[in-house]
Amino acid sequence: MKEYQIDVQLSSNLKEKPAFDQLSFGTVFTDHMFIMDYTEGMGWHDARIVPYQPISLDPSAIIFHYGQTVFEGLKAYNTKDNEILLFRPDENMKRLNRSNKRLVIPEIDEDFALYALKKLIAVDKDWVPSVEGTSLYVRPFIFATEPYLGVRPSAQYSFVIILSPVGAYYKEGINPVKIAVEGDFVRAVKGGTGNAKTAGNYAASLKAQHDAEKQGYSQVLWLDGRENKYIEEVGSMNVFFKIDGEVVTPELNGSILEGITRKSVIELLQYWNIPVVERKISIEELFAAHHEGKLEEAFGTGTAAVISPIGELSWNGEKITVNNLETGPLAKKIYDSLTGIQTGVAEDPFGWRVVV
Ligand code: COI
Repeated sequence: MKEYQIDVQLSSNLKEKPAFDQLSFGTVFTDHMFIMDYTEGMGWHDARIVPYQPISLDPSAIIFHYGQTVFEGLKAYNTKDNEILLFRPDENMKRLNRSNKRLVIPEIDEDFALYALKKLIAVDKDWVPSVEGTSLYVRPFIFATEPYLGVRPSAQYSFVIILSPVGAYYKEGINPVKIAVEGDFVRAVKGGTGNAKTAGNYAASLKAQHDAEKQGYSQVLWLDGRENKYIEEVGSMNVFFKIDGEVVTPELNGSILEGITRKSVIELLQYWNIPVVERKISIEELFAAHHEGKLEEAFGTGTAAVISPIGELSWNGEKITVNNLETGPLAKKIYDSLTGIQTGVAEDPFGWRVVV
């Protein structure tokens, strides 16, 4: 392996750790962070691990005005033998570079980014929780730092990795969530940035999510931006439906995020010989399947959300309940298998785990 250089400046003021059995999502951060800068002509430079701290930027930095930024999300798990495991982190690094390309951000060296991430986690290893249902959420992100108000790609960037011990993403935990199908707004369109992990997609989703939350829903289910007809994703997760014995998930089309959990669930289902198809599925078809008694289960998949059963869907003034608002057997089987592989309690026939 190449020799990689990272300066390490350890914190002299370590924080008090939270109660690991009471973690929510994304509120607590560890003692250190990784940071590296990019300057046109020099490339990426000054890789360092420093105490977790605020970032100082010029008010005219391009990120603030034009949103040139990308991010990733992955998790580290503490095994019962006190080993720290990552789940398919190479896939996150590949996707980060795909997002970089779309946002005209210089690519990073994926091996180096993974090395940096492992080194940061090793420094903050005491922050990896081992309580069931918890993990250390890893958030790598890159943003444009050049002070300039013209619209063009920045000549300067920072790449930062922060770590956060987390519990369940939804307050429901692994119990079913209620989802409203969005009829007015769209999250992404073909040719847009829907399949890149970039802030603008999430900003575009806020209004609908805010309105849905007021009605008692956890999230919204997005339909395609052209015909407002085909199911896309939830925004914090991809979606799967079990219809008449077959598992269906919307096919990737450029506006749906290419979830790593989504890909892993498809591979697990194939491994178990459970029929799974990636295809277009319209919201009418889904509601019709429910009316015919064929919609057996619905669930979302994501790094933050893991496997999140969907218990209620509302669309066009109609509410349907899936599997009596209970977690279905398939969602449970996938949740147990996936988290078993991730946390080291089950075999990993796919070679998905990476030891820190
Ligand atoms: C993740 O699942 O890691 C995500 O990035 C979704 C996030 C918006 C919470």
